[in-house]
Amino acid sequence: MRRLLLSATLVTLLTLLSGVWRFSRVSGAVDDKQQAGSHQKASAASTDDYVGSEVCETCHAEAVKKFADNPHWKLSLAHEGKGVTCEACHGAGKEHVESGGDVTKIFQFSKAAPKVVDQKCLACHGGAHPNFERSTHGEANVGCASCHSVHAFKSEEKLLKVSQPKLCYTCHTDIKPAFAQPFHHKVDEGLVSCSDCHNPHGTFKQKQLRSSVAGDAVQPAGLAERSRVRGVATLARRPPLVLRPPNSPRPH
Ligand code: HEC
Ligand code: HEC
Ligand code: HEC
Ligand code: HEC
Ligand code: HEC
Ligand code: HEC
Repeated sequence: MRRLLLSATLVTLLTLLSGVWRFSRVSGAVDDKQQAGSHQKASAASTDDYVGSEVCETCHAEAVKKFADNPHWKLSLAHEGKGVTCEACHGAGKEHVESGGDVTKIFQFSKAAPKVVDQKCLACHGGAHPNFERSTHGEANVGCASCHSVHAFKSEEKLLKVSQPKLCYTCHTDIKPAFAQPFHHKVDEGLVSCSDCHNPHGTFKQKQLRSSVAGDAVQPAGLAERSRVRGVATLARRPPLVLRPPNSPRPH
């Protein structure tokens, strides 16, 4: 009995350790992400089960062709240029191909539960978004696929299904009128984004805010850069925006 208990503890410890190892590996750069992908791959199936994107192309020509514009094409750079782009997400495809396209033999994102999809994405992006599952969105089952689409994104920015603020308004209809008030942050005009103040992937602050509202001065991420791009020099030189000094009206 004691030996059994001991080995059980050992197994738990090892699992935990490998979890920590993986977490430290995935945080940060592209290299790490790619390694994380291959790590996950290695544990799921042997290398022989991977057929490569060229094989997928024979039946899914459209999906592969369009992928040239996708930041995920970089997955092909893994393993000295022998990365498996499609299968890094959909899993090993040999059985799917040999069965002539049996959909039960390949990972179907559109049929999977939000949490399952999130886990797939977080295997590579967990380093950048470690708080997601604890965020209000994560807890409310608003998963990665609610806002992002890998193949059919409608925004040139960050594979978003639609651009901001429209994306956020599809669910937060109650917030929209606030930005039509006589005095408002220029969100609908495109000068400020919802995500300049909020991080939809979760933060350690209230309301998924990037910075505290207790009178803190905030320079929304990317505001200066966007102002420069649009040639609004005065905005770029403006002192940091104060979100909400005590007793002032709400920001929206
Ligand atoms: C021999 C032809 C063939 C090859 C090669 C092939 N597929 Fe398929 N695939 C199919 C067919 C047929 C379907 C079913 C289509 C349908 O039901 O609309 C399918 C369906 C899928 C689906 C599910 C579609 C859905 O509606 O969710 C995915 C994902 C997929 N394939 C990915 C891949 C990937 C990744 C590869 C390369 C590893 C690949 N396929 C290679 C024929 C193929
Ligand atoms: C980064 C992860 C990822 C990669 C890489 C990827 N897919 Fe997908 N695939 C998805 C997701 C997520 C969906 C669900 C629809 C969406 O988000 O666009 C999907 C959906 C599909 C579908 C079903 C049709 C649809 O639009 O619902 C097919 C077929 C498919 N992928 C094939 C491929 C092929 C072929 C490749 C390689 C060129 C590939 N995928 C690479 C994540 C990925
Ligand atoms: C196998 C690893 C892997 C998986 C799984 C994966 N990604 Fe990625 N993702 C990457 C890499 C690599 C890039 C390119 C990073 C770069 O260009 O710096 C990327 C880029 C992105 C970007 C664009 C980032 C930017 O700055 O433009 C988004 C958004 C994204 N992924 C979302 C997702 C979503 C949603 C899923 C799940 C459906 C997913 N990814 C699954 C590896 C992965
Ligand atoms: C409520 C909508 C929403 C959800 C849910 C969401 N995202 Fe995002 N994501 C965005 C928006 C908006 C941006 C662009 C602004 C930004 O960078 O925060 C973005 C940017 C990104 C980027 C590129 C910039 C960065 O911060 O790394 C990646 C990668 C990404 N998301 C991955 C994911 C993954 C993985 C999930 C699921 C675990 C997810 N997102 C869930 C809205 C969302
Ligand atoms: C200038 C910064 C800023 C911008 C831009 C911004 N928000 Fe907020 N948002 C805040 C602050 C600060 C709070 C917290 C307000 C409070 O506690 O009274 C908040 C609260 C919220 C809440 C919670 C509301 C509640 O009653 O609990 C939601 C939902 C929200 N924002 C969505 C959005 C959406 C969607 C957009 C874009 C259309 C957006 N925000 C743009 C700063 C901003
Ligand atoms: C698919 C629907 C959906 C989309 C798209 C969406 N949200 Fe949410 N959001 C929710 C739900 C559900 C909640 C949790 C319930 C609530 O507070 O309304 C939530 C909560 C929030 C909160 C409140 C957090 C808190 O702690 O109270 C903020 C802020 C927020 N979302 C911002 C955004 C921003 C910014 C975007 C666009 C980048 C966005 N949401 C896109 C569904 C969505």
